Amino acid sequence: MIDITTKIASLKLRNPTILASGIMDEDAGSMKRIFDCGASAVVTKSIGLKSREGYPNPTFAELEHGILNAMGLPNPGINEFEGEIRKLKDSNVPMIGSIFGSNSHEFVELSKKMQNYGVDALELNMSCPHAKGYGLETGSDSKLVREITSKVKESTSIPVFVKLSSNLTDIIEIAKSAEDGNADGIVAINSVKAMKIDLELKMPVLANKTGGYSGVAIKPIGMRCVYEIAKNVDIPIIGVGGVTTGEDALEYIMAGASAVQIGSGVYYRGVDIFKKICREMECWMENHNYKRLSELIGVAHK
Ligand code: SIN
Repeated sequence: MIDITTKIASLKLRNPTILASGIMDEDAGSMKRIFDCGASAVVTKSIGLKSREGYPNPTFAELEHGILNAMGLPNPGINEFEGEIRKLKDSNVPMIGSIFGSNSHEFVELSKKMQNYGVDALELNMSCPHAKGYGLETGSDSKLVREITSKVKESTSIPVFVKLSSNLTDIIEIAKSAEDGNADGIVAINSVKAMKIDLELKMPVLANKTGGYSGVAIKPIGMRCVYEIAKNVDIPIIGVGGVTTGEDALEYIMAGASAVQIGSGVYYRGVDIFKKICREMECWMENHNYKRLSELIGVAHK
């Protein structure tokens, strides 16, 4: 029997595959479906204090080796989202509430509400690569990262994970700031800031001009970030970026991740990707005589 259970802070997961924020996570029904398809937990859409429409279309483009998107953090606002979280809670789906804000007051208010509604952990989105005043703009300032993380920790009792961007000058410095603020884990990475020009129109394909690139092309970038963070912090890491197969997930685990998130992979392999990845991991482990996933976490550092 192969044991692929994992633990991130107090969160015990039946396997290391988690639905990443931004894919099929707008309502309780779709998140429940993803859980039924094998994911061990789901991350909600990033939610702010007030509703946001997001950017005008086009917001999405499929490129040769990945997906480019700039949605602009569209969401119904925390009060409207309460019902979805409560419904999911009733279905016993482990839930990580993703939130974004521009300062510690907003993050604290959102965190308290998310906790009251019933999420099992929080993901602080400090990494959206293109939203003005949010995401990467908060996540590039090490003092602000420490302040937001510590204030959220002081006002909540569930695990707090900080999601970082690869577009930082020094991801290690920012990861350490999150750790200093008492984060329970780091999530790395968000989509990578990118753009595409339409040759015929002679203009960017996205209405927002720049967006975030995700999918297989960014896996080596995520891997480098997870590896470097793992060398420099002691808290658990959740790896994200281009996970499409069991082998991809195992690479992240060997780089130091305790779990992985899957987003664009759902687009490429369907909702069953979580079960498929778990089977592929188990198969590799069986062939290489590993019985527990925990034996593989961070082995690439030895
Ligand atoms: C978006 O809403 O455009 C993406 C959110 C994110 O990158 O965190």
